[in-house]
Amino acid sequence: MNGNDEAPAPPRPLPTARHDRPEDRLALHGGTPVRRAPWPTYDKGAVFIHPEDEEAACRAVRSHLYFRYDHRPHQETECGRFEAELCRYFGTRHALAVSSGTAALALALMAARVPPGSLVACPGFTFVATPSAIVMAGCRPFLVEVDRNLRLDADDLRRRWDPRIRAIVVVHMRGFAADAEALARLAAEMGVPLVEDAVPALGAELHGRKLGTFGVAGAFSTQSDKALNCGEGGFLVTDDSALFARAVALSGAYEGRLRRHFPDGEPPLTGLELPLLSLRMDEIRAALLRAEMTRLPGRLRLFHRNYEHVSAALADLPGIAIRQPVAPGAYLGEAFVFRVPGGDAGWFARALCREGIDARNIGSDDDVNVRAFWNWRFAYDTDDVEAIRALLPHTTRYLREAVDVPLSSNLTLDDCADLVRAVRKVAAEHAGRTPAGPGPVGR
Ligand SMILES: Cc1ncc(COP(=O)(O)O)c(C=O)c1O
Repeated sequence: MNGNDEAPAPPRPLPTARHDRPEDRLALHGGTPVRRAPWPTYDKGAVFIHPEDEEAACRAVRSHLYFRYDHRPHQETECGRFEAELCRYFGTRHALAVSSGTAALALALMAARVPPGSLVACPGFTFVATPSAIVMAGCRPFLVEVDRNLRLDADDLRRRWDPRIRAIVVVHMRGFAADAEALARLAAEMGVPLVEDAVPALGAELHGRKLGTFGVAGAFSTQSDKALNCGEGGFLVTDDSALFARAVALSGAYEGRLRRHFPDGEPPLTGLELPLLSLRMDEIRAALLRAEMTRLPGRLRLFHRNYEHVSAALADLPGIAIRQPVAPGAYLGEAFVFRVPGGDAGWFARALCREGIDARNIGSDDDVNVRAFWNWRFAYDTDDVEAIRALLPHTTRYLREAVDVPLSSNLTLDDCADLVRAVRKVAAEHAGRTPAGPGPVGR
């Protein structure tokens, strides 16, 4: 060894001591995942169906009366009774059960007499069914920015206002109430109807009032992922008798069947002035839904319990921005959505998946998500994705930063604790990957 030789440097310590234990190392990096059991979701069978619901559906099957307009008085059919219960639940004058949430939304727009060819405003963050329903109603979607909490931005809508806009569709996306009160005021000021796509928020309230009752009509889905589940289905609620009559006729109440929906008097139209689109609900599904309604309040409590547990346990975590409700408790709790401001939400979602939590980055380039507006290619004259994204720069940024985790009402508090542990574990590693370190939340 000559004078220039140095003793070999001692091995450098591992970057952080927490990686000594396999359970502390990310599963993405070969560590032990937080959980191995599948994350409960409806498409894996985690549904809220009780034996009484199965029995109700079986009774309807055994009745052999599947079509909603049969020989019985309307108030004795499953659809008629389901609609009466919806009116009681929502406190509305009318309810109409139909074949899907998309059908309910398109019917609401058509029945509100939004002229075909006109523009209908809707947020850039919603399921593709919203702009699709607008197209189904013969109109064109007019996209509006969402704010950092992923709610339709009423100020942006006011700034962008175009006189060809003839209706506003507000969406309570991933169960979070939009500011339906502000939007109802804006719609009234502009002289256009507000229609609520309340599909993801069945049963949620804003200031003690049910979502879906702020506009001229509220549209809901009863697809398997929703608070009431019959596989496929939906309904609309409204206080407007003329709108209701048009929706009933359009949905397929022909040859006097419209009259059954107006037991106390004559309907305000014959129905012959409208096409028949056959978007009806059937008796088997209505029987199932009616049975489920008896346990809906309990299910809503579970959604809230799980959401509150997770959001409270992660409220102090630096580096993530949890969606904030427009008013306390104004959400269903069916999904835990947060942003990773300035970070890598794609990596975050992938790391969570490896920890055993189903998570998606909504604005991902690798995982096509039809809740991101640039993937609604039918809605534009161009295929240039960058040009489409440039239409809504804020929404683009927020969706690129957003991570979405489904929260089934069937989650146990242990499942919720797994989610909390996984998010904390991934966030700690993410902080080390981000050059600037974790930023303040809420940006
Ligand atoms: C916001 C929103 N609107 C509309 C729909 C369409 O409902 P359906 O699948 O019953 O047509 C969905 C479906 O998930 C949705 O999330």
